[in-house]
Amino acid sequence: MKSHRSFYRALAIGAPAPFQSMPVALERMIHFVPPHMEKVRAKVPQLIKQVDVILGNLEDAIPLDAKQAARHGFIQLANDNDFGSTGLWVRINSLESPWVLDDLMEIVPACGEKLDVIMLPKVNGPWDIHYLDQLLAQLEAKAAISRPIRIHAILETAEGVNNVSAIAEASPRMQGISLGPADLAASRGMKTTRVGGGHPDYKVLADDAGDAPRASYQQDLWHYTLAKMVDACMAAGIKAFYGPFGDFSDPAACEAQFRNAFLMGCVGTWTLHPSQIDIAKRVFSPEPEEVAMARRILAAMPDGSGAVMIDGKMQDDATWKQAKVLDDLAKLVADKDPEYAKFYQVE
Ligand code: GLV
Ligand code: MG
Repeated sequence: MKSHRSFYRALAIGAPAPFQSMPVALERMIHFVPPHMEKVRAKVPQLIKQVDVILGNLEDAIPLDAKQAARHGFIQLANDNDFGSTGLWVRINSLESPWVLDDLMEIVPACGEKLDVIMLPKVNGPWDIHYLDQLLAQLEAKAAISRPIRIHAILETAEGVNNVSAIAEASPRMQGISLGPADLAASRGMKTTRVGGGHPDYKVLADDAGDAPRASYQQDLWHYTLAKMVDACMAAGIKAFYGPFGDFSDPAACEAQFRNAFLMGCVGTWTLHPSQIDIAKRVFSPEPEEVAMARRILAAMPDGSGAVMIDGKMQDDATWKQAKVLDDLAKLVADKDPEYAKFYQVE
């Protein structure tokens, strides 16, 4: 176990000092692009205006014979565009793969200064984060990168779920964790063929009441894992995200899955298809009425202490803090999105 004193020390001479607090960023959706496809790269300038994070995917879903082209396409996409406040992330190949070393050795020197976050798949425990942490510090030092590249872990193995708290706390580079329901289903031996979402056979049956047909209620397959992940993230001061929803033909189920995650504490989700961008925006932006209420609370309690009544409801220091979360989020959303700036009446 590292001492508190050394936790925030750079892991290589000349590497940038780790962030002591999380940089403020709007991350409602992490939009996946396959960077080996030229026609997709051509759409990036337009996507930058529409999404909060653009992620170049190098791992699963990229054909084996396109692994190198995807890495090079990502470097090109990173260097050809100005991302402004839109995040630039990459999902590298997993640590046991033959591609990951070249992913890191080529990407960090070529575009490390523009890269906000590296998404690491198939994280089993804190040892995976420690390995990447050390290697990144060495590469950052060598390439004279001025700010640390952060790490986002995908929770998609049974062993990873067992170790999720230790993963969340493994390094000051940790930005957040996403649920990876497809690989996790395989790792756990779940009897499904889906990428996220519910399953009609995962249900409880009402008691047998004679002749009446028995009602059944579908349950959420991901509830336990998501709750465990959110607690681990929030306790470590990092962000929790839902992951992929693979059925593009079912926007209602996608919205329901995203909303469950939002209500549970997640700040964003992955979007794998353009049609999911608006769903994520709708779900992960606060409602204008809630923002208006938050502002009334903040205005009624200028120093955040004491208690006041608003519309018959008690407000105190704790609701002031909730109101501040909503107002801060609304300001971030308004900065990005003129349409939401109008809803929230932010100039
Ligand atoms: C994502 O990578 C997943 O496996 O669900
Ligand atoms: Mg996966």
